[in-house]
Amino acid sequence: MTPYETLYQRSIADPEGFWEEQARAIDWFEFPKNILSKDENDLFRWYDGGMLNTCHLALDYHVAHGRADQVALIYDSPVTQMFQQFTYRELLDATARFAGALQQLGVGKGDRVIIYMPMIPQVVVGMLACARLGAIHSVVFGGFAPHELALRIDDAQPKVILTASAGVEFDKIIPYEPILETALKEARHQVDHVVLFQRWFRKSEPGNTRYLDWELLERSATAVGCTPVAATDPLYILYTSGTTGKPKGIVRDNGGHAVALRYSMQHIYNALPGDVYWAASDVGWVVGHSYIVYAPLITGCTTILYEGKPVRTPDAGAYWRVISDYKVKVMFTAPTGFRAVKKEDPDGVLKQDYAIDSLRYLFLAGERCDVATLEWAQQLLGIPVIDHWWQTESGWPMLANLAGVELLPVPPGSVGKPVPGFDVQIIDSESNVMGPGEEGAVGIRLPLPPGCLPSLWNAPEQFKDSYLRAYPGYYFTGDGGYRDQDGYFFITGRIDDVINVAGHRLSTADMEEIVASHPAVAECTVIGVANDLKGQVPMGFVVLKAGIEITETALEAELVKMVRERLGAVACFKNALIVKRLPKTRSGKILRRVMRNIADGKTFQPPSTIEDSGVLDEIKEKLHHISS
Ligand code: COA
Ligand code: AMP
Repeated sequence: MTPYETLYQRSIADPEGFWEEQARAIDWFEFPKNILSKDENDLFRWYDGGMLNTCHLALDYHVAHGRADQVALIYDSPVTQMFQQFTYRELLDATARFAGALQQLGVGKGDRVIIYMPMIPQVVVGMLACARLGAIHSVVFGGFAPHELALRIDDAQPKVILTASAGVEFDKIIPYEPILETALKEARHQVDHVVLFQRWFRKSEPGNTRYLDWELLERSATAVGCTPVAATDPLYILYTSGTTGKPKGIVRDNGGHAVALRYSMQHIYNALPGDVYWAASDVGWVVGHSYIVYAPLITGCTTILYEGKPVRTPDAGAYWRVISDYKVKVMFTAPTGFRAVKKEDPDGVLKQDYAIDSLRYLFLAGERCDVATLEWAQQLLGIPVIDHWWQTESGWPMLANLAGVELLPVPPGSVGKPVPGFDVQIIDSESNVMGPGEEGAVGIRLPLPPGCLPSLWNAPEQFKDSYLRAYPGYYFTGDGGYRDQDGYFFITGRIDDVINVAGHRLSTADMEEIVASHPAVAECTVIGVANDLKGQVPMGFVVLKAGIEITETALEAELVKMVRERLGAVACFKNALIVKRLPKTRSGKILRRVMRNIADGKTFQPPSTIEDSGVLDEIKEKLHHISS
């Protein structure tokens, strides 16, 4: 057996032995009594009885073990021309003081803190300070509109919210507190305090007294130590799009998370203590949580917080500049970022201005990577470019090519083989394992390894309904795919109502709810259609109520505005078409997959259950019209 096969087989044959051994790589206050057990909801839990603190692992441990003066965090902000570095000691000092400030505000173990902030060092300090106190943070991505923020405030019921005066998107300043204020007006839950970090280029003047100044608070606070928490206590909640308009609160526990991330850094990314690791993502997404903040710091790496874009900040050489400035060894981003660079600088001319020979691996995830982009990056960089697959729920990769174990000859278009701990199977609707080349649902045989969601926030039954009940014995990922003869997996896309726009996960059901609320709309559907830059973009199809007179252009403009205001600009909802009818089966199910195939120009066979295949001709004609 190859080194990968040996490792993988062991992890599946003896999960408890395997993960007990991996758990020894982190510094516990008390080593767990049970490696794997079940909780009161009959759900699997890792490391019950173990006591630890994630902030201790990320900061205190390294300061005490020779890394105090190593750079922990590099802040690189081409959009504001701010460049700062924090050693482990400096990051610990700032975090311990800010944790003291939060404690003064009444935040303690188990309390929730919502973080609605741009990509600035304070967001890392805020997350780690919560972890230090045993408080549960919930970071909300800056691109979401007030309504989405309000939903999260009501579900998480935070004591305190952390925010900043503004974010920057290319050259556009986005004031944050007006968004937060609108959300707080909509939310039923009211918070005691909002701590606001004032950025130098925009000072907020909040009109009410619940706002406290971040810097004043931090300056007057006393540093506090780490609160021991149970391995099974939540570290954070991260809301993600599901198949309804209500986001799902993914819970991450402390123990399994720390063990899994530490394991992944060495085995998947080949990133070792002291290495420079760069995840060009946003802390509002799982990639940012796991691979900007927690995994690199728990491992003793130097991590980079990049407040910029792949292009236009200032040009398509931005990635190369960061890699060369900080001697990045491992980079991780979404394929969209590389598609944007490829579009602007197809010959990679700008790369010639930079020495990027420190870069050993490029990892891509978050959405499907087209083979052309993968091969373009590989040729340009001359290093392994590794497409790997995971999701908010898993918290770390499930299918990959393990750079720290052995690099396998992964065929183009595949996301590799199962990561140790993940028993990935392609299954049919009866949970039968399917053979090579057969496409089905991607399921993970239970138990999931450490680091994956143990449940949804305050909703164990919803967790079972969403992920466990459809395929007994398996966790259902929401993705479809197949495995080839050699065991390499291919992901064909979501088989539910989730789409991926520029690596951002969004729910079409959420958009449908908004579109359907327009007074002119009788019924509608929103599907994700292929897009060269963003992978997918949403497109709405609308049937008007009888007697309504409105032009397609006027309706489209109103719907675009509504989705922007309610869901956020990040949805990229820009197209809506009026149709006479939606294609449906005789039982009334909208044929979204058929519509997607038409929009993507794929050949397909309409199902025999279709109510009226003439409807498809109208859709084809409309799409043909807009694409020409
Ligand atoms: N705060 C506020 N608004 C935000 C935002 C944030 N954090 N992130 C995105 N938006 C807004 C953008 O300003 C844009 O608004 P606009 O319609 O008014 O221009 C809209 O949401 C869509 O953003 P995006 O999809 O990012 O498109 P873009 O044209 O601004 O940028 C790319 C295109 C390719 C440069 C950009 O998507 C990118 O950098 N992608 C890299 C992938 C990535 O990091 N993914 C993270 C998951 S791993
Ligand atoms: P998120 O939870 O935002 O990380 O999105 C997870 C979803 O993104 C997965 O369920 C997949 O549909 C998709 N995804 C992530 N990585 C990949 C990949 N490498 N290839 C194809 N799809 C991916």
